[in-house]
Amino acid sequence: MPIVRILAISGSLRAASLNSTLLRAVAGLAPAGMRVELFTELGNLPLFNPDLEITDLAPVARFHARLAEADGVVIASPEYAHGVTGVIKNALDWMVGSEVFVNKPVALFNASPRATIAQASLKETLTVMSARVVATASITLPIIGSNLNESGIAAHPALSTSIREALTAFRMEIIDLHPPKTYTLYGIKNCDTVKKARSWLDQNNIAYRFHDFRSDGLTPELLQRFAEHLDWSKLLNRSSTSWRQLSTEQQSDLSLEKALQLMLTTPTLIKRPVLDTGDQLILGFSVKDGGYAAILPPKTDNQ
Ligand SMILES: Cc1cc2nc3c(=O)[nH]c(=O)nc-3n(C[C@H](O)[C@H](O)[C@H](O)COP(=O)(O)O)c2cc1C
Repeated sequence: MPIVRILAISGSLRAASLNSTLLRAVAGLAPAGMRVELFTELGNLPLFNPDLEITDLAPVARFHARLAEADGVVIASPEYAHGVTGVIKNALDWMVGSEVFVNKPVALFNASPRATIAQASLKETLTVMSARVVATASITLPIIGSNLNESGIAAHPALSTSIREALTAFRMEIIDLHPPKTYTLYGIKNCDTVKKARSWLDQNNIAYRFHDFRSDGLTPELLQRFAEHLDWSKLLNRSSTSWRQLSTEQQSDLSLEKALQLMLTTPTLIKRPVLDTGDQLILGFSVKDGGYAAILPPKTDNQ
């Protein structure tokens, strides 16, 4: 099941904030296939200044990066004097010049049925930033005046049901919007590097299909695809045991055609693993170099 990663943002800096409390309860109520993480550094963002770039300031850059890697965003923010809080507006203003909210699914959670003006204003700001405010996932809950803490909200039958339903609807919307990519990892099951790549993918919740050259075979078409996207001289693993077992004649006068023929006959000559993301092929894997982190956002089971 693809895991959808949600960034939760509270527009209140108050230690006992109802909105932050609500979001902590939301994180605990996330359905299977969804992970909700709170962004707690909104108070570190300086006041927005269009003269500065996002990359100029570490807290702003971090906020941008967290948004960029999230599949969706949940915002719970109070109303102050019939407007949104300066905290949330300031944070959003920093992101206006970037594309980070474009098409980003956003769910608005309102902790106060009275706070209709700020909620409408927040929705308008996000809409003009081209975010996708998901109506079925946006809810108003009577948290204000309820005296409920985080566990009280989670244990409250009506509130927890509403939250779970909204999150489930949000997840479905996100998956419909960005169908998870199917990655395929090619290799040999008992190869150490392949094992390391597989555990990295598992740890980072990136779902993939494993194709074992030994049990699943290797077609000329697949090898051709590898050769079109990868340097054949690197694809052919000349430090492998299989290479050392070849005759001098087999090893000499290499050309693309000869290399392909050798690899087709002996797939263990192919450097392992090859990861097919659908967009690109990635050859080899090294934990020392950060695994696939530079290429793949470690996010969902499958995207
Ligand atoms: C400066 C200020 C202005 C407020 N203005 C409004 C308002 O216009 N409408 C409203 O419904 N609540 C208003 N409130 C009440 C807040 O929405 C309420 O205290 C809420 O719990 C604040 O969110 P938090 O608990 O997450 O900090 C205001 C509160 C403050 C501190």
